[in-house]
Amino acid sequence: MSRKVTIDYQKSKKVIEVRELSDWEKVAEFLLSKMKPGMVIALKGDLGAGKTTLTQYIVKQLGVKKRALSPTFALVRNYLVSDLKSEVRRIVHVDAYRIEDERELLALDLDEELMETGTVMVVEWPERIAGWILSKRDKITVDIELN
Ligand SMILES: Nc1ncnc2c1ncn2[C@@H]1O[C@H](COP(=O)(O)OP(=O)(O)OP(=O)(O)O)[C@@H](O)[C@H]1O
Ligand SMILES: [Mg+2]
Repeated sequence: MSRKVTIDYQKSKKVIEVRELSDWEKVAEFLLSKMKPGMVIALKGDLGAGKTTLTQYIVKQLGVKKRALSPTFALVRNYLVSDLKSEVRRIVHVDAYRIEDERELLALDLDEELMETGTVMVVEWPERIAGWILSKRDKITVDIELN
């Protein structure tokens, strides 16, 4: 099954067709070229669309040795970046799928996490924390559509 990936950033859109697994590399590369500390990357798409897979490719290209796992049980996972060419020092991977209410969201302290030096936050199921996402100015939205 192929995926149509639409990337929205600063009022411009880019579409990348993802057929095989390795095509995610192109998406990750494009995102890396736009990524800056303090930014939120919102990954939208149905169950199994490839949100965690894309996160793995992002983390891999930043030279993180540890493989990105689905954070379903942890909700939040941190990856420390070793690529000295990038200003990004840390990827915080959030899976908002099981966040049910405002109280749970607040408990995660996402604002404080995002303020830490060199942090980029990658969020699966941003719809679950839509208000918080909306309050963030510097963000990239990635929409993954299964064909
Ligand atoms: N381009 C692709 N071609 C074939 N298989 C793919 C492709 N992209 C992802 N997959 C596979 O699809 C499965 C689901 O992917 P993934 O876990 O990344 O989805 P997800 O969007 O994170 O889902 P969830 O909403 O459940 O967290 C994985 O087994 C992954 O290897
Ligand atoms: Mg996932």
